[in-house]
Amino acid sequence: MAFLEAEQLFKTFHTANGDVEALKGVSFSVKKGQIYGVIGLSGAGKSTLVRCINLLERPDKGRILLEDHDMTALTDAELRKERQSIGMIFQHFNLLMQRNVLDNVCLPMEIAGISKKDARKKALEYLEAVGLANKAHAFPVQLSGGQKQRVAIARVLAGKPKLILCDEATSALDPETTGTILHLLQEINKKHQITMVVITHEMRVIEELCDEVAVLESGRIVESGLVSKVFNDPQSEAAKRLLLVRQTQDILKGTGE
Ligand SMILES: Nc1ncnc2c1ncn2[C@@H]1O[C@H](COP(=O)(O)OP(=O)(O)O)[C@@H](O)[C@H]1O
Ligand SMILES: [Mg+2]
Repeated sequence: MAFLEAEQLFKTFHTANGDVEALKGVSFSVKKGQIYGVIGLSGAGKSTLVRCINLLERPDKGRILLEDHDMTALTDAELRKERQSIGMIFQHFNLLMQRNVLDNVCLPMEIAGISKKDARKKALEYLEAVGLANKAHAFPVQLSGGQKQRVAIARVLAGKPKLILCDEATSALDPETTGTILHLLQEINKKHQITMVVITHEMRVIEELCDEVAVLESGRIVESGLVSKVFNDPQSEAAKRLLLVRQTQDILKGTGE
């Protein structure tokens, strides 16, 4: 049984310059405990897909099934409750700048009605899990990008999610920090058995985290399957292009052959 299923998602944005078909029938399924990757170039529809999975954006057509539960059929009020079980990690961290680290991590627990005292105690444990307990009283502006992302990950854990969605979680970070964040995500997946959907334009992220990947291009999945298969023997033009982008980056960094 699939843990998460996207069924024929369609989404069109109506803009002053005409219609933008961001998703044109996207389907995929994710098993429980899996880290599933979606890769595509800028503008492919990745962020729209994430926003449709957690229903921040309602798809025009199609369904999202989470543990066989049709999320698309819920009212907005029901959704707000269900969405608490879905954690989001973004490129720009989305921390509350006027709150210190500890109080940022407390946020999902406050929403869940946990007392301030208990929330703070738990928050410290989550900060410890991401190696940042010593920064509990710092403010986001005092942290590096990698530290901010670790706070964001602690905050996601505080929501006790069954699913974590990462939208370009490491795209604002340097290669070394990217490595530590990917490692942390992997550890969380193993330790807590939390299913993840990882959305990125970087092949490295998919290679390090995922066993299965879907390649998104212009709102359609043009190829999917085992990471080893898709990246070693790409069939679609989009996958071949992503491979080329990575080779170019490797050469520029002096790590290519
Ligand atoms: N709120 C919106 N209004 C209008 N167009 C949008 C909106 N969000 C995304 N788009 C368009 O949909 C397409 C897919 O965007 P997006 O999902 O952000 O792609 P990606 O995350 O892969 O870069 C793009 O052409 C983008 O301009
Ligand atoms: Mg995006």
